[in-house]
Amino acid sequence: ADPHAVAPALLHWYDRHRRDLPWRARPGETPDPYRVWLSEVMLQQTTVATVRPRFIAWTQRWPTFADLAAADEADVMAAWAGLGYYARARNLLAAARVIAAEHGGELPCTEEALRRLPGFGAYTAAAVAAIAFGERAVVVDANVERVVARLFAIQVPLPNARPAIRAATDTITPDTRAGDFAQAMMDLGQAICTVRRPKCLLCPLASHCVGHAHGEPDRFPTKKPK
Ligand code: ADE
Repeated sequence: ADPHAVAPALLHWYDRHRRDLPWRARPGETPDPYRVWLSEVMLQQTTVATVRPRFIAWTQRWPTFADLAAADEADVMAAWAGLGYYARARNLLAAARVIAAEHGGELPCTEEALRRLPGFGAYTAAAVAAIAFGERAVVVDANVERVVARLFAIQVPLPNARPAIRAATDTITPDTRAGDFAQAMMDLGQAICTVRRPKCLLCPLASHCVGHAHGEPDRFPTKKPK
């Protein structure tokens, strides 16, 4: 399969099937880095359906970094209730305060600079750099891992497959529209390339997919024998 053929096919599909989510810029709009960041933090370990109403309520209450930076920690923790992993909420507030105090209320726009902020791990920094700023970052979450393991029929089981999956994701990441590409991979993993019974008949990447060519895409990512 030609790795350079993957992104055009996926972006073509995304242009038709993109979900309208409250943190996503519509075509032609500029993404709001605050909303991109907040959504990526909320979506770690929490589903889109759960996050959607919580994201809307949060951004009505605190629409910008400066608003969040001025909030009381107790209010922020209460607003996070039910989303789990409270360290994420504490880091959100800590990062908002650093951004307000040291970065003029704006997120730095490179992956490397983002990594230095509280709560920005490899995933969050890459996702925000790509989605908010269009940087060509390699964005790998659990959905992307599954899509790429199938696309390249990666035989090594997780977690040892991670370096190979990251390298393979790098080969298919386009120079432009990196944010759309990342979100399209996530949508594909959520809607089409599902853990069980992937819907290969509907998949824009089926003709590029080695796992599909083998006739058993859901064998990937492989599991360690017990
Ligand atoms: N999961 C994590 N980030 C996401 C995004 N931007 N869109 C959809 N699902 C996601």
